[in-house]
Amino acid sequence: MSGDNDFVVVANRLPVDLSTAADGTQTWSPSPGGLVAALSPVLEKHSGCWVGWPGVADAAPEPFHTEGGVLLHPVPLTAADYEAFYEGFSNATLWPLFHDLIVTPHYERAWWEVYRDVNERFAAEVDKVAAPGATVWVQDYQLLLVPGILRQTRPDLTIGFFLHIPFPGADLFRQLPWREEIVRGLLGADLIGFHLESYVANFLELVSQVAGPLGSRIGQPDTLIVEGTPATRRVGARITASDGRSVGVGAFPISIDPATLGAADDAAVEKLRAELGHPATVLLGVDRLDYTKGILQRLLAFEELLASGSLAPEDAVLVQIATPSRERLEHYRRTRSAVEEAVGRINGTFGTISRPVVHYFHRSLPKQQLQHYYRLADVMVVTPFKDGMNLVAKEYVACHGDGSGALVLSEFAGAGVELHQAHLCNPFDIDSIKRALLGAVRGFQWEPEAMAERMTAMYEQVTAHDVDLWAGSFLDCMREAGR
Ligand code: ADP
Ligand code: F6P
Repeated sequence: MSGDNDFVVVANRLPVDLSTAADGTQTWSPSPGGLVAALSPVLEKHSGCWVGWPGVADAAPEPFHTEGGVLLHPVPLTAADYEAFYEGFSNATLWPLFHDLIVTPHYERAWWEVYRDVNERFAAEVDKVAAPGATVWVQDYQLLLVPGILRQTRPDLTIGFFLHIPFPGADLFRQLPWREEIVRGLLGADLIGFHLESYVANFLELVSQVAGPLGSRIGQPDTLIVEGTPATRRVGARITASDGRSVGVGAFPISIDPATLGAADDAAVEKLRAELGHPATVLLGVDRLDYTKGILQRLLAFEELLASGSLAPEDAVLVQIATPSRERLEHYRRTRSAVEEAVGRINGTFGTISRPVVHYFHRSLPKQQLQHYYRLADVMVVTPFKDGMNLVAKEYVACHGDGSGALVLSEFAGAGVELHQAHLCNPFDIDSIKRALLGAVRGFQWEPEAMAERMTAMYEQVTAHDVDLWAGSFLDCMREAGR
């Protein structure tokens, strides 16, 4: 069976989530996360088809077109799939394993069976919608087996795979009881993309370690240099899969579409500053509420700076916007409790009735409103323990083309490779976060020109390497690799 779409993206989630009100009214709202933020403009540009789960268990809506001309093709998941595939194998096995064991992964055979089954169902839906010879782009850790399944069922397709999260060192990955099946699944693609060259290196090392059991003829990878301008050129490798096909592997740092942030609205930003009581310094955190993001650590650093008098409560305000995420999982619940307890304690100690020092929002905001917060913030605080890229850091930088603002950034965020002019910190070390925060706050007085130069350099990097360039260079390499 085949459909008539020449370009198909398949991801765990559709770009919109379905919700049903008490009276039965159904509404669609934007899905959380960087994958959706990055791919939505790409799909609109290519008028493609997006295959994915509608965000709620046991719902089977009909396919429909978005206003931007993208065909959304829902894949239903049952409540049991949601538990074992999404909450279980994807987010309690792969997520912690790929984020360097910040919490301990669970290896459950029953979850693996469901993961494999759900991957087969996603592949079957792609089979229905993809035209003969179509380009299919598989996304992220929830669908690691899909390239291999499609290679068997639809050898006519050109298949790409992109991982939106880090790829761990081979010694960690080898813990996974199903490591060979996963590697074999990935090698079904013509091109496998990661954010960073270090993740590519980890993957190549892993492939060479599990090559024996896989029965592949994998040797030393040849260097592959794809032609292009310096901005689009990508260096990666070619490896040989067990069926003799050549598979490209490369680093493609994902980015943002500055246009989706909307136009600057100075009046709205000024109004926000007034609502906060005109503090001298506004610090900002924007994250999914995930234990990888280091939200508690940044609160503790802020608290210690207030306690020592390095920051005065009448001068500094921290705004933390946290999108609800994976809320039934234990580590997510614990993280939320710890964050909210810290917010309460800090406000109880340093706030006044009219002036909390931490403003905390546990909700998603429209992009335009988020843009006002980005413009407002003097210091953006991004402190993940591990993050594949981190688009929030890039969105902030894109809102400060005038050289204003400062970025405190974890050295374990993928974005640190490109945004090395940020105030880098080690999020495992509260003193390091404190130093970076104070360096940023004091920098405005002590070295304003150098601060502006740092922001301008990062702005130029982000705007010259936007999501269009990311998608274009991946798709170019994919066509080349699929030949
Ligand atoms: P992740 O993919 O792990 O969630 P990223 O930083 O790469 O992390 O991407 C997060 C995306 O979600 C960004 O595009 C950001 O604008 C968006 N986002 C984060 N928090 C919120 C929020 N509270 N409301 C709306 N969008 C948010
Ligand atoms: O960017 C990482 C990522 O896990 C995406 O795969 C995902 O779409 C997003 O964050 C949000 O997570 P979830 O889909 O589990 O809500």
